[in-house]
Amino acid sequence: PMQRRHTSKQRFVADLSQCLFDFVIQLLPTTEELAVKEDVRKLLERLIRTLEPESRLLSFGSTANGFSLRNSDMDLCCLIDSKERLAATDLVTMLGDLLERETKFHVKPLPHARIPIVKLSLDPSPGLPLGIACDIGFENRLALENTRLLMCYAMIDPTRVRTMVLFLKVWSKRRKINSPYKGTLSSYGYVLLVIYFLVHVKNPPVLPNLQQMPPLRPISPEDTLLGGYNTWFFDDIDLLRQRWHSDNTETVAELLIDFFRYYSRDFLYNTGVASIRAGLLKKESKGWQNDLSSGRFNDARERNRLCIEDPFELDYNVARCVTKDGLYTIRGEFMRATRVLASRPDRAIVALAELCE
Ligand code: CTP
Ligand code: MG
Repeated sequence: PMQRRHTSKQRFVADLSQCLFDFVIQLLPTTEELAVKEDVRKLLERLIRTLEPESRLLSFGSTANGFSLRNSDMDLCCLIDSKERLAATDLVTMLGDLLERETKFHVKPLPHARIPIVKLSLDPSPGLPLGIACDIGFENRLALENTRLLMCYAMIDPTRVRTMVLFLKVWSKRRKINSPYKGTLSSYGYVLLVIYFLVHVKNPPVLPNLQQMPPLRPISPEDTLLGGYNTWFFDDIDLLRQRWHSDNTETVAELLIDFFRYYSRDFLYNTGVASIRAGLLKKESKGWQNDLSSGRFNDARERNRLCIEDPFELDYNVARCVTKDGLYTIRGEFMRATRVLASRPDRAIVALAELCE
């Protein structure tokens, strides 16, 4: 009986890996969608240049990091190379007016938001059956760099990393735990949890730590400092592929099962900070501890229930929107996923369907 149980587990895991690949592949954006999005970017760039001739409009987030799903939003960042430039607030208002006049987009400028942005959306059309949603921000160079870091991690082990990340994005959206505005975690937060797990929890690791690898040549701080933050990481992925290889041979399914188990049971939510740069840190050492003694700090306490350090902006808790209830729900979902996968229904496809129900 031991023997039989063992082989049935192995069969389940192999099936599940195959199902995960198949599931994720059908959710990837079509080449047509990518081409339309690139056209939209170019069109918007041309319009912005009528206001700021020295500007560039760059993609970040999922459209640029290799983790994009069909119909995901476009995150765009406008960089202005000239010294004398309009203030972001004015630019947002002016760009809002311009796009309203010149394009078919629905336009919503938010000049007074914490980070001023213009929100755009386009109604569905034959080429774009679900329309487009797009945010344009300004001078967010750190977001461009963290996008590049995630893209490099995706490139090191595309099959395992991308399959896990894409699956978790779909799963967290279907289970309604991917809404920072409602107290749960952003996609960016889930991606960091996956990378943290693959770099620091798995032994042997599936990914190296790109921020701690020895650089090829001495780094000059002025090249890598951005707004006071060190953004250096090892980004020569071709070379890395020759020099580094993972001794971890687990399949995507095994890694995913272990991921859910780790975040249901083992991660130290009360005291720990997940840092892809430095491994497990203590909330105390970052001043992010829960202060349970005083009602006055209610607000701060609510902000640091779940702690994920941004890879570059070290004083920024990416999970600070996660509330007590939100974390309870997220952990409940990790536990549910662990349970569904441990029950090993006859066919892996049934497990996947139940998981994303
Ligand atoms: N970002 C950030 N800090 C956050 C959230 C997001 O810096 N707290 C930046 C990151 O550069 C991230 C990008 O915004 O890559 C987009 O974040 P998000 O929309 O959460 O991730 P996507 O990969 O774009 O996922 P989705 O497809 O769900 O939009
Ligand atoms: Mg996005």
